[in-house]
Amino acid sequence: MYFRNICIVIVVVFISVLIVSSCVSQKKIEYVFPDAMAKPIQEEYYRLSEKGRVLYEINCASCHTKKVKGKMVIPDFTEEQMGAYSIRIANEIHEDKVSEARVSAEELNLITYFFTYKKKNKQ
Ligand code: HEC
Repeated sequence: MYFRNICIVIVVVFISVLIVSSCVSQKKIEYVFPDAMAKPIQEEYYRLSEKGRVLYEINCASCHTKKVKGKMVIPDFTEEQMGAYSIRIANEIHEDKVSEARVSAEELNLITYFFTYKKKNKQ
């Protein structure tokens, strides 16, 4: 009887660990803000970056989020690469998909915040 209870406890603990670890591995995007930036401003940029993340997922991820060693990796675009000129004009593939009509200047700004503050991938 005593042995059976121990077995039940072990099984319950094992299942709990599985559930918790599967939640943790659902990776959340981390952001890095400059230390000098005041907390309320960090919170504001966090909010804007999260909006940008959603816009990235809708408009860009299908081409740019790629599987690397079994993990989905979002690239680290620089502010320079995100410039309206290089995105819309210098890139033929983008002409239709990222045109002003599909992704407004304001939305492109939000996506740029996302890339500016997103924690960079490990090299
Ligand atoms: C239809 C597929 C497609 C979509 C959608 C798309 N891109 Fe691209 N993008 C490409 C391809 C192809 C290239 C050129 C090859 C490369 O650098 O990956 C490129 C290049 C870029 C570059 C330049 C990368 C470099 O190395 O200089 C940036 C920045 C970029 N895309 C940002 C975006 C953003 C932001 C969005 C969403 C608003 C987006 N792209 C949507 C296909 C796409």
